[in-house]
Amino acid sequence: MINIRKSATRTFGILTAGGDCPGLNAAIRGVCRAAHDRYGMDIVGIANGYRGLIEGDWRTLRPSDVYGILTRGGTILGTSREKPFKVSGRESDEVPEEKVAAIKDNYRKLNLDCLVVLGGNGTNTTGYHLACEGLNVLGLPKTIDNDIQGTDRSFGFNSALAIGTEAIDRLHSTAQSHSRVIVIELMGHKAGWLALYAGIAGGGDVILIPEIPYHIETVGRHLMERAEQGKAFSIVVVAEGALSAEEARMDKKERKRYREQYGAPSVGYRVAREIKEVTGMETRPTVLGYVQRGGIPSASDRVLATSLGTAAADMLARGEYGRMVALSGDSISSVDLSVPAGKVRSVPPDHYMIDTALAVGTHLGMKG
Ligand code: F6P
Repeated sequence: MINIRKSATRTFGILTAGGDCPGLNAAIRGVCRAAHDRYGMDIVGIANGYRGLIEGDWRTLRPSDVYGILTRGGTILGTSREKPFKVSGRESDEVPEEKVAAIKDNYRKLNLDCLVVLGGNGTNTTGYHLACEGLNVLGLPKTIDNDIQGTDRSFGFNSALAIGTEAIDRLHSTAQSHSRVIVIELMGHKAGWLALYAGIAGGGDVILIPEIPYHIETVGRHLMERAEQGKAFSIVVVAEGALSAEEARMDKKERKRYREQYGAPSVGYRVAREIKEVTGMETRPTVLGYVQRGGIPSASDRVLATSLGTAAADMLARGEYGRMVALSGDSISSVDLSVPAGKVRSVPPDHYMIDTALAVGTHLGMKG
């Protein structure tokens, strides 16, 4: 006989928002299995992130809905980048209050005791704002960028790291065979965790991340020194948000204009062209793009997503709302939703991985 435990939460809604990533389904399964099987909670699956809660797009989630999804990529709930607290453009006649009001109305209509949101910085920030509006919210940290304040790791990162590393391994073949410099652009708009880790794992010769504005002359000099030492090829790993020291001094508008004038489709292309200009070496860009977010989650992400998910179910049962479940060292803990709200966890300059990279001769774009 199944022993259903006491629970402060009877019904909750669950949604996934922001970019998809491997491990979302594992987390949905973790929350739902534990919440249903241990505590007998009812679950409402909300489609396409906050948009589903605004537009009234949801369905009851039954245990059978989460069978067989542990290893599946993407999210069975669908996702969107809907940010209900943000006016989408100056010309927009959207009134954000209407979206927030719709969310609050639907939350009440569904008789939810809590809303569980799986997402990155934006999703947890919205969760925090909704908590300030009086809703019970619980966040879970997902993103391949690993840049959520309050958790040591987000699920999705480890899988993307494996994909990025394999891509670098594969690019080595062509770089070596053709004696070329190959620039690989990985995701990470504001934080360089993915590029730094994949770059170190794949033995990148140069790694450029947003936290360390790069000096193209010193990058070029490093590559030429390698060539003089008989290493005719090089791999340059660039985070999507990497910027030159010159760009770092510009304001947002100036930087946009400067990039438009340069005319490269993305930073990977620009760095490749800049390297060619300063070294004369044959250089090619590769942009990995959404491949990094697709496919099955790694074993490590499955375990992390499942543990965070089941811990969320326990928190629902205890009525611990307004928090984000987190990994702290080797333990599952939680932080107030105000901790991730509106912040980005960047790579600190004194992080040991920076020194690790330098110690094995990897150039990080710094001057001198
Ligand atoms: O969700 C994180 C992320 O993977 C970032 O690294 C990247 O900047 C962004 O998503 C791009 O996502 P999209 O094109 O789906 O908006």
